[in-house]
Amino acid sequence: MKKGCKYVKDSQIEMTELVLPNDTNQLGNLLGGRLMHWMDIAAAVAAQRHTNRICVTAAVDQLSFHHPIKLGEIVRLKASVNRAFNTSLEVGVKVIAENQLTGEAKIANRAYFTFVALDENHNKVEVCPIIPQTKEEKRRYKEALIRRKRRLELDKLSR
Ligand SMILES: CC(C)(COP(=O)(O)OP(=O)(O)OC[C@H]1O[C@@H](n2cnc3c(N)ncnc32)[C@H](O)[C@@H]1OP(=O)(O)O)[C@@H](O)C(=O)NCCC(=O)NCCS
Repeated sequence: MKKGCKYVKDSQIEMTELVLPNDTNQLGNLLGGRLMHWMDIAAAVAAQRHTNRICVTAAVDQLSFHHPIKLGEIVRLKASVNRAFNTSLEVGVKVIAENQLTGEAKIANRAYFTFVALDENHNKVEVCPIIPQTKEEKRRYKEALIRRKRRLELDKLSR
């Protein structure tokens, strides 16, 4: 392996939260904003573990909420670096909602976060490459480049 490179598994993380009353809306469902906050934290931890740098959120791809997550459910957030570019990297986050009374678990949503790594003076800094090993990691690595192109084109249009 080239010096400075890392494997995907080196920075993968899983974060677990319990949905409490203060996290919910009037219907007893997890607030979208609270979930986005947890997702951002999970993604940032993976990005920073890969880069050993402070990473700031540059973009979040379209985020949809497919299933409500209920008060008392467990939320598992899996974050994994899909690809590192120059100073930025894409992290995928998968959210799984788990009912501990029934044992039922469902994927509640996913999103892709782009982070930029900063040095001690808050300047952008190059990130180390990532090496995908499994079939799944290689697929995500390939698709991350397609998403990056699309994301940057959309960003240009919205400026
Ligand atoms: C993110 C930030 C550091 C980018 O700085 P910049 O000088 O505009 O960056 P550049 O245009 O040189 O791009 C730097 C990298 O970010 C990527 N990037 C910038 N904007 C992006 C966007 N909207 N979507 C995806 N990638 C983006 C670029 O492609 C580039 O990647 P590369 O180096 O891997 O090729 C800067 O805009 C910033 O500090 N934003 C605020 C971050 C923040 O506070 N986040 C918390 C949320 S409020």
